[in-house]
Amino acid sequence: MKHLLSIEELNAAQIAEILALTKKVKANRSRETDRPLAGQTWALIFTKASTRTRVSFEVGVRELGGQSVYLAGQEIQMGRGETVADTARVLSRYCHGAVIRTFAQADLVEFAKWGSIPVINALTDDEHPCQILADMFTITEKLGAVAGKKVCFIGDGACNVSRSWIFAAQKLGIDLWIAAPKEFQPGESAGIHVTADIATAAKNADVVYTDVWVSMGKEAEAAERIKILQPYQINAGVLQHAKPGTLVMHCLPAYRGKEITHDVLESHQQTIFDQAENRLHVQKAIMTLLAKR
Ligand code: CP
Ligand code: NVA
Repeated sequence: MKHLLSIEELNAAQIAEILALTKKVKANRSRETDRPLAGQTWALIFTKASTRTRVSFEVGVRELGGQSVYLAGQEIQMGRGETVADTARVLSRYCHGAVIRTFAQADLVEFAKWGSIPVINALTDDEHPCQILADMFTITEKLGAVAGKKVCFIGDGACNVSRSWIFAAQKLGIDLWIAAPKEFQPGESAGIHVTADIATAAKNADVVYTDVWVSMGKEAEAAERIKILQPYQINAGVLQHAKPGTLVMHCLPAYRGKEITHDVLESHQQTIFDQAENRLHVQKAIMTLLAKR
């Protein structure tokens, strides 16, 4: 593994390797003496907003002994039209890795192609692999395994997070059900159930998961999305279909009263904030593995 560009291009063994190292990294957080990024500087290039991803990467790089430089996509020359290929070649002369949040997956792939440093996808319009790896780790911590678990994703079934979920489910043997209105359903994917019927999707689910209805870049469609997605909210009624004790997960940020009710979020806040914390541990594991190769 030279880069982490998507879940689509990872295999089950690589995912297992990341999750196994995450467990060690998390357990050793306060007493870890290994500094795999010592002497290194990693660039964080973000053209979209972020709280969790930015801070967990900045803290993670520091905890691994390195330094980071944050570059807002609109403030560097790339925002004024310098090519991705040139930016990648220049930053590769200064930095030892690049963490990129942007719109087009193709730009990430282009950066990885022209640069000579490891590249990590910190969210694109197509995928959010670091989030989904943290989710896999969180489910394993809480339920012992992900294979064979029934996961119900409710909401915008065509967004980056649900796409990464689809690839993870196919590789790890998760029984993934996506409940979404037809306008926001993903294309057909082998082994994945897609339905507009929430009750069927949520029936006996081990995990009920959602993401925002208006992803970054979709703001112009906000009113229409909110109207169409209104019935696809995680609320007490939906949870009645799920297994007793089901895990409720949300990648955050959350919009209470939209994709999830205030009460459901607060009753499951332990899981949801563990999920957010695990971003740090899984990303430290990913950087450790990439820095070694
Ligand atoms: N879940 C997630 O990626 O959050 P941020 O947008 O705050 O980074
Ligand atoms: N689907 C959301 C995820 C935010 C972490 C977005 O792209 O905005």
